[in-house]
Amino acid sequence: MKEIKTIGVLTSGGDAPGMNACIRAVTRAAIFQGWKVYAIYRGWEGLINDDIREFSTESVSNTVQRGGTILKTARSKEFLTVEGRQKAYENMVKYGMDALVVIGGNGSLAGAMELAKEHDVPVIGLPGTIDNDLYGTDSTIGYDTALNTIMECVDKIRDTATSHDRIFFVEVMGRDAGFLTQNSAIAAGAEAAIIPEDNTDIDQLANFINRGIRKSKNSSIVLVSEKDGGAMHYAERVRKEYPQFEVKVSILGHLQRGGTPTAYDRILASRLGVAAIEALQEGQRNIMVGIKDDQIVYVPITRAIKLDKPIDKELINVLSILSI
Ligand code: F6P
Repeated sequence: MKEIKTIGVLTSGGDAPGMNACIRAVTRAAIFQGWKVYAIYRGWEGLINDDIREFSTESVSNTVQRGGTILKTARSKEFLTVEGRQKAYENMVKYGMDALVVIGGNGSLAGAMELAKEHDVPVIGLPGTIDNDLYGTDSTIGYDTALNTIMECVDKIRDTATSHDRIFFVEVMGRDAGFLTQNSAIAAGAEAAIIPEDNTDIDQLANFINRGIRKSKNSSIVLVSEKDGGAMHYAERVRKEYPQFEVKVSILGHLQRGGTPTAYDRILASRLGVAAIEALQEGQRNIMVGIKDDQIVYVPITRAIKLDKPIDKELINVLSILSI
């Protein structure tokens, strides 16, 4: 395999807190090896449109604590086409990039895999998304920060919910996954969580109401994953089917993606960034670097993006016991 001397790094898809710590780690670990680093702006869009700059160690100074991504990000429609990926590849050749490090979620890593297949370029994926929906890693970069943000918001909602004896449906991001919803519900002491993974025939709303939670408590908070109509859908149902309850909705939205990363996310991002460069040096390609039981692991990208990361049923059990 060709010796690596130059890499490109980009962030793609939804931004996530800790992405900057990761860009910093990739940049510095590569320079430490004596490699050249090109920063690609606005994800795949920047690789297609030549929005590329060389990075030095100073380029990433004072970034470890910053939310968002200094490289900016985008959801590129053009990269979904063969022509778009051809243009992206041509820019890789123009800059002499021997490999690409892609920090992003499911869609971004799927895109990286397409490029790798069509043009035989080594890519390393790093899991950067608040959703935590990539198989092969216990946690994705940004997930812990978002979890803490949601917990703090729900703590605040609890004050007003209690004062007014109201039911609140709080909508949480996560796309098709319920990790953020389930774990923030446990952390914030919510009465229930409605998640896409709990797709038994049991009506999760009826289940919650029938448990008679309102009899013993003066407020109820139900966290609802954004999928399938989210919080609005359940609030409407309560208004129709249980008009005796006063219901409010709070959609947390993009505030869940912002903010300074937690220590956990900064450390995770730093470790994964360094590991990506070490993986390339070892001759690895087309893998995602993840973390399992606190150890760095390599997972084929094709496996990581299969969207079948299960939620531990124990978490569902814990919430249902603790919310009696
Ligand atoms: O993947 C991260 C995420 O925040 C999801 O939780 C959410 O469904 C989606 O991105 C929102 O994307 P956008 O910011 O493009 O609306």
